[in-house]
Amino acid sequence: MVESKAWNWDIVKGEHEKYWQEPAVESYYLINRWLSQNKSDFLDLGCGLGRHTIQFAKAGFSTSGFDLSETSIKKTKEYAKESGVQVDLKVGDMLDLPYSDKSFDCIYCRNVISHTDTAGMKRIVSELKRVLKKDGECYLTLGSKQTWGFQQNWPVVDDNTKIRVEDGPENGIPHFYADYDLILELFNDFEIVNIFHIEDFYTKNDKTFSSFHYHILIRK
Ligand SMILES: C[S@@+](CC[C@H](N)C(=O)[O-])C[C@H]1O[C@@H](n2cnc3c(N)ncnc32)[C@H](O)[C@@H]1O
Repeated sequence: MVESKAWNWDIVKGEHEKYWQEPAVESYYLINRWLSQNKSDFLDLGCGLGRHTIQFAKAGFSTSGFDLSETSIKKTKEYAKESGVQVDLKVGDMLDLPYSDKSFDCIYCRNVISHTDTAGMKRIVSELKRVLKKDGECYLTLGSKQTWGFQQNWPVVDDNTKIRVEDGPENGIPHFYADYDLILELFNDFEIVNIFHIEDFYTKNDKTFSSFHYHILIRK
């Protein structure tokens, strides 16, 4: 299994930092969905700067945030204090979650679990199953094989995984890329509620780029 590597949040500043502080669009839907299902114990897996950790805590969930990056957890702690919410925060590796079986009703992992290789992905999927309660749900995203990253001439780990080479916070981090069939295979122990294949557009230095991710909602 490839070695895990955290994002380098220390170099994320200015507009880039603001981007990672604004909740993602589907988070509002997930809050409504999970509150209407009376779900309460929530894990923000790979919480980054804590945008969803704090958002879900404010919405009334009993919230845990988890990340491999110490800076991420430090910043999330500061954000929780400013926001006046109580959250449980832990530093660690998603390959070995420090939670007991059936701890969570719902888990959100946005652009996180792709940061491993194929063997790691299988391990994470089994960890998700272990820590979810019965009928618990998980919303996750995976990089798509149709996205630009998978076409790059980066070091190859296995058929689905490359090590990203860039001047930025993801330098040296493994990226696993999926396709539809691989998703069905990976999550065959879960009920798949839905799978979306989404193209995101963004502008950097006056140039427009796009990337493709799968957005997947699964139920145990
Ligand atoms: C793209 S950021 C997403 C942050 C957050 N989910 C959000 O949407 O704002 C990916 C996060 O995953 C974390 N991460 C990467 N590999 C990890 C691992 N093996 N275990 C736990 N967290 C990891 C990174 O440190 C980073 O904070």
